[in-house]
Amino acid sequence: MFQNPLLLLATLFTSSSRTKQYENVTLQSSGIERWYLLTLPPNFDSSVATPVILSFHGGGRNATQQYHLSQMSNSDFNDFAIAVYPNGKKKTWQGVPGAKTNDIQFTADIIIELSTKYTIDKSRIFATGKSDGGGFCNTLACDPVLSTQIAAFAPVSGAFYVKNDTTCEPAKIEIPCNASRTNIPMLEFHGGKDNTINYTGEGRREECLPSVPHWIREWARRDGLSIKNESTPLEGTTDTTVYEWGSGKEKGLVKHVFDESIKHDWPSIADNSDNIRKGHKPASFNATSIIIDFFKQHALKT
Ligand SMILES: *[C@@H]1O[C@H](CO)[C@@H](O)[C@H](O)[C@H]1NC(C)=O
Ligand SMILES: *[C@@H]1O[C@H](CO)[C@@H](O)[C@H](O)[C@H]1NC(C)=O
Ligand SMILES: *[C@@H]1O[C@H](CO)[C@@H](O)[C@H](O)[C@H]1NC(C)=O
Ligand SMILES: *[C@@H]1O[C@H](CO)[C@@H](O)[C@H](O)[C@H]1NC(C)=O
Ligand SMILES: *[C@@H]1O[C@H](CO)[C@@H](O)[C@H](O)[C@H]1NC(C)=O
Ligand SMILES: *[C@@H]1O[C@H](CO)[C@@H](O)[C@H](O)[C@H]1NC(C)=O
Ligand SMILES: *[C@@H]1O[C@H](CO)[C@@H](O)[C@H](O)[C@H]1NC(C)=O
Repeated sequence: MFQNPLLLLATLFTSSSRTKQYENVTLQSSGIERWYLLTLPPNFDSSVATPVILSFHGGGRNATQQYHLSQMSNSDFNDFAIAVYPNGKKKTWQGVPGAKTNDIQFTADIIIELSTKYTIDKSRIFATGKSDGGGFCNTLACDPVLSTQIAAFAPVSGAFYVKNDTTCEPAKIEIPCNASRTNIPMLEFHGGKDNTINYTGEGRREECLPSVPHWIREWARRDGLSIKNESTPLEGTTDTTVYEWGSGKEKGLVKHVFDESIKHDWPSIADNSDNIRKGHKPASFNATSIIIDFFKQHALKT
């Protein structure tokens, strides 16, 4: 087809502008200065209650990197929610061995600040994150207060550290959790070749990483769902299985996407800073679209 160079330029411009530039917001929390990046969704209307997605970066990384990695500000994926990328102190999050900052308070303070600046939809605040940031999603989901403020969680390659008093038994370890509701939507992604946060669990940094199947089944149990899962190959892939818990209206309340062939990556068909590393490869699906669909299906009952 004949392409007018001007049209081509216009197309390029449109597609590159689909990922919005962010605003950097600073805030005092627990007496220290913190910051987060923020983007508004396309067609944002300040008079309409707008959902919020919090996207937490991995250990050793920062909010800017998570903005690029998670693509939560790309309107091809997220056309409905304000996207927020909090920045961790010392590049990590509460709940990770050694972390001392009150990030639960930081998250609560971000939510308060957003609700004073914008008309946010308080029944549709969501959390996602990679690795330590995925672990922090679990910390929020297990907090008595935040578990009632965040509607759904989607950790990617989560590092769900548990303090053990004896030897680490990844498939059995008791996972402490103080969630205040029993219908928490939880979606986890993990790679079978993840050699950072091993799928079958192991001791790490003097604590215990539960096996991912054990960790996710514990969410099904806490949510009062049958421990039995329904598994289906992810459409368009040969290496990825979707496990779902719950039936009837609760089908898929707890969900797990297992890609047997990828490492410690944010699953993406396009290149990203995870999958271009040596020995890594792109996934056969985009986790971000599955996360957005999951979030769109859930809201807090008010
Ligand atoms: C955001 O602002 C804080 C505080 O001034 C600064 O430390 C941080 O580097 C900024 N982040 C970006 C991505 O510009
Ligand atoms: C975030 O990390 C990237 C990669 O190391 C670095 O280039 C950038 O300056 C960092 N941004 C901030 C605000 O610290
Ligand atoms: C649960 O609450 C108890 C009592 O306040 C506290 O000691 C414990 O650290 C909490 N655990 C989690 C995972 O929040
Ligand atoms: C994860 O741990 C298991 C059990 O120790 C081991 O067999 C497996 O090779 C590890 N996986 C990776 C990707 O390192
Ligand atoms: C918990 O497990 C880790 C990893 O195996 C180990 O290093 C640590 O000593 C264990 N903690 C206790 C108190 O046994
Ligand atoms: C799903 O159920 C099958 C059959 O009972 C079981 O073998 C498998 O381990 C379960 N998967 C997870 C992630 O719990
Ligand atoms: C996956 O995301 C990339 C952009 O990151 C996009 O180009 C591609 O069309 C998406 N593929 C599918 C199947 O959603």
